Amino acid sequence: MTPWTLLGTANIPNNGGELKLTQRDQEFSIHLKGARGELMNSRMRCSERALADLGCAHIKNVENAKVLVGGLGMGFTLEAALKVTTQSSEVIVAELVPEVVEWNKGPLGDCAERPLDNPRTSVHLGDVAVLFKPKKPTYDAVLLDVDNGPEGFTQSKNDSLYSIKSLKAIHDSLNKQGVLAVWSAWFDEKFSAQLRKSGFKVTHETVRAHMGKGSRHTIYLAIKN
Ligand SMILES: C[S@@+](CC[C@H](N)C(=O)[O-])C[C@H]1O[C@@H](n2cnc3c(N)ncnc32)[C@H](O)[C@@H]1O
Repeated sequence: MTPWTLLGTANIPNNGGELKLTQRDQEFSIHLKGARGELMNSRMRCSERALADLGCAHIKNVENAKVLVGGLGMGFTLEAALKVTTQSSEVIVAELVPEVVEWNKGPLGDCAERPLDNPRTSVHLGDVAVLFKPKKPTYDAVLLDVDNGPEGFTQSKNDSLYSIKSLKAIHDSLNKQGVLAVWSAWFDEKFSAQLRKSGFKVTHETVRAHMGKGSRHTIYLAIKN
């Protein structure tokens, strides 16, 4: 079997540790150094795409919609958000780690049809949480996939992203009937309750990691009341 080749490393802000990008044939992996494990693998892309398909279903025919994607990763959610929305809609992607953006401009880009080259895409380099601070209705959909689920994995500071205070700020940042969709490797009723307490109407979907096979992931769908 072809061995993995190291393509790059990056320090996660706020002492989050080190990210590594590796490649073996056409397969890419982004993982956290040490025991914390893999954040993304290019073979597993279906649930990342489902995050956008489900989270943007209500705006697929809406002109001038605005979508925020939290976490670029390998670009699958961004790619799907661009595909599912109208040509007049814009998609902002927030990414904490500058090197992840560079990797997507370079070797990783072909995994997801180079979504950063799309003129409808703009990049916010930094913490997605900053974009919820104005608490002004701005987005029709917010698609969050920055950790393995609603608890800090990339950086412990992300824990606060899933607090009621932060979820209320996200609620305030959505337009009427806007949707917050959150990717998670597991289902936790406590997080659904947290979303309800923050003012959302909540459902969830179970999606498979790889073409109807592989791990079952959860997409929380929280609709602004
Ligand atoms: C699991 S990956 C995202 C996968 C993505 N959905 C895809 O389709 O490839 C998580 C990404 O979120 C980024 N990230 C983590 N915390 C963040 C934060 N607070 N704000 C913005 N990006 C963040 C990580 O650097 C990583 O690129």
